[in-house]
Amino acid sequence: MDRQPHDVLDELQRDPYPHYERARRADGLVHVPELDAWLVARDADVREVLRRPEDFSSANSLRPDVLPAPAAFAVLGGGFGGRPVVVTTDGAVHQQLRAPIVRGLSPARVAAVLPYVAERTAVLVDSFGKDGRVELMSAYAGRLPGDVIGRIVGLDPADVPAVVHGGHRAEELLFRPLAQAEQIAAAEDVVAMQHVLDRYVRERHARPREDLASEIVASVTDGELTLEQRHEAVGHLQNLLLAGHLTTTALIGTTVLHLLRHRAQWELLCAEPDRIPAAVEEAARHDTALQGFRRLTTRPVTLAGTELPAGATLFVAFGGANRDPARHPEPDTFDITRAPVRHLAFGLGAHGCPGAQLAREQLRLTIQELSQRLPGLRLAEEHPVEMRPTMIHRSPYRLHLTW
Ligand code: HEM
Repeated sequence: MDRQPHDVLDELQRDPYPHYERARRADGLVHVPELDAWLVARDADVREVLRRPEDFSSANSLRPDVLPAPAAFAVLGGGFGGRPVVVTTDGAVHQQLRAPIVRGLSPARVAAVLPYVAERTAVLVDSFGKDGRVELMSAYAGRLPGDVIGRIVGLDPADVPAVVHGGHRAEELLFRPLAQAEQIAAAEDVVAMQHVLDRYVRERHARPREDLASEIVASVTDGELTLEQRHEAVGHLQNLLLAGHLTTTALIGTTVLHLLRHRAQWELLCAEPDRIPAAVEEAARHDTALQGFRRLTTRPVTLAGTELPAGATLFVAFGGANRDPARHPEPDTFDITRAPVRHLAFGLGAHGCPGAQLAREQLRLTIQELSQRLPGLRLAEEHPVEMRPTMIHRSPYRLHLTW
């Protein structure tokens, strides 16, 4: 049977590393039809693109892999958002959108939320089955980051599950091929999430609190709250929430997966917990959660010797840069004892991840809790691990563990 374009893309997404290797070895840049973009996979080239946002615009950074059917679009029309957000804007507008997020995720704010993160890690591990088995993605990795970003934004814990679910459904709708009925159902879940967020926007406009939702609402209004400003604030909140939980969920999954696949390194961590921060960096480098985002050239430019016209699309592969032997010796080897070298898992420059510290702390506390309480943790051999086909939240579908 003929392979569909999506099968080919799935294959690349499940294992992009051989594609990066070929692209790094080539002269200049390689155009990859599956990605519909020039693939930038060398560390030095990725850094150069990220340092020149005026030449490489973020306008297409969230370009969907799939265009929803008109019937799903019609459902989305009943929701909020659809406006430019921090990750898709450039220049002054970008700085304006980024400012409240940077304030809301400052080192002091992250430090203030750590006791809550520690409490949630303990409660979630307490809830694992008493039969010595757990599926980590649903019981833990898919839950902690939503609770934590929900707390910072100021969501009622009762609203967190619908917001997290809406985030997963938005990703499915825009990045997975779904049958039309499924697209409509996903669009309905996304719209339901947006209405929950709009309620927060209206409430925080009327009665601001000490939370990030209030800061975001204040940043888009100067008095009255118009319908257009509600759209802007909901889009802003939705983007922040998705960026905050889907990525961290993915990195928890791959970190635990690689540590348990390399038993000696897991045992080393259990014996020497001071190594946990280095292990988190290695996991973030080795199997990068956000494999890459697109950029659009704003004028004719030459990159790695390849001449590109204005309007060319690049796929900027953080995950490719992180496996570049020119920067990371033996890059395909997972080794928590390697000498630290700055990787690009959290990006760099104008759009560099403002949530990196929050993500690192959640990973650190997670590995600390699991290694201290469940040192006998193992992958359940009867459940082979399958990676999700995605370039934006790389993780196993499910991670069955025993102890
Ligand atoms: C393991 C977890 C995470 C990873 C791997 C990750 C990775 C990244 C990367 C690579 C970028 C740069 C995108 C670009 O250059 O276009 C980015 C941007 C961003 N991240 Fe993260 N992130 C993580 C967690 C978080 C968390 C916890 C938050 C919020 C609480 C967050 C919020 C954001 C936002 C708002 C942006 C856009 C910044 C901008 O465009 O100026 N991220 N992230």
